Amino acid sequence: MTGELVIDRLGLRFGGVVALREVSIRHHPDEVLGIIGPNGAGKTSLINAVTGIYPPSSGSVSYRGTPLTGRSPESIVATGIARTFQHNQLCGDLTVRENVLLGCHPRLGYGMGKAALGFGPARRAERRLRGEVEPLLELLNLGQVAAEQAHSLPYGLQKRVEMARALALRPTTLLLDEPAAGTSDEDRAALVRIIKHLRQEGACSVVLIEHDVGLVMEVSDRVAVLDWGECIMVDTPEAVAADARVLAAYLGVDDTPRDLAPSDSI
Ligand SMILES: Nc1ncnc2c1ncn2[C@@H]1O[C@H](COP(=O)(O)OP(=O)(O)O)[C@@H](O)[C@H]1O
Ligand SMILES: [Mg+2]
Repeated sequence: MTGELVIDRLGLRFGGVVALREVSIRHHPDEVLGIIGPNGAGKTSLINAVTGIYPPSSGSVSYRGTPLTGRSPESIVATGIARTFQHNQLCGDLTVRENVLLGCHPRLGYGMGKAALGFGPARRAERRLRGEVEPLLELLNLGQVAAEQAHSLPYGLQKRVEMARALALRPTTLLLDEPAAGTSDEDRAALVRIIKHLRQEGACSVVLIEHDVGLVMEVSDRVAVLDWGECIMVDTPEAVAADARVLAAYLGVDDTPRDLAPSDSI
């Protein structure tokens, strides 16, 4: 069952830099929430504060009514929140299948040491998880490359392996940090298909941070706009695309007038 993520007046400072300022966003169960904003707006910081990488300077986060603020990243993952990173964090020497299997391990309830030694219960649990990995590889169109080393794959496929690894945790909420950045049109189409699939199946709620505004508009139920650490609006894709404040936020970092029509990439 997916859950509600409530971000309440969240603030995050790095010395004199204010990365987030009183950000309040309610992510509804089953919803795909897009987050857009110019470079440096605070998008990654928001995910880092929610997932416990950086403790917020003020405000709070709760998930399904349970406070997350002050908890470790591991214990936040255990509540059902998984994420991908803007810059891949794969184990490049391992195969695609092994990377995804690694994503399952926090669910085993014992350390990698016992898993490596192959104790009886560990071996049985491992076999069960291996069975779960195959459908995930299929969903993400990674079946053909499952036995290849992750570092040998094109960037777009590596991004998808990271997503498969996050999904292997069986999250109820998935946070994606720029999954389409630097990828091909084909990867982008696959991403749209996967996010729509997760939405339709009610498998997990999704928070999608992306520079590709057209992609965000295509798959999101609502879109939040960050600018200089502030959330300036949360609304439907249509309302956001038509809002003067959003255009101004983008124009503030780029003098070229842009239209926020789908297929545009900022
Ligand atoms: N670990 C950090 N240390 C210092 N400043 C940081 C750190 N992470 C982010 N920032 C600053 O916070 C602001 C927001 O950055 P970020 O969240 O990465 O933006 P975005 O993901 O929207 O491009 C930027 O000014 C950035 O330099
Ligand atoms: Mg970022």
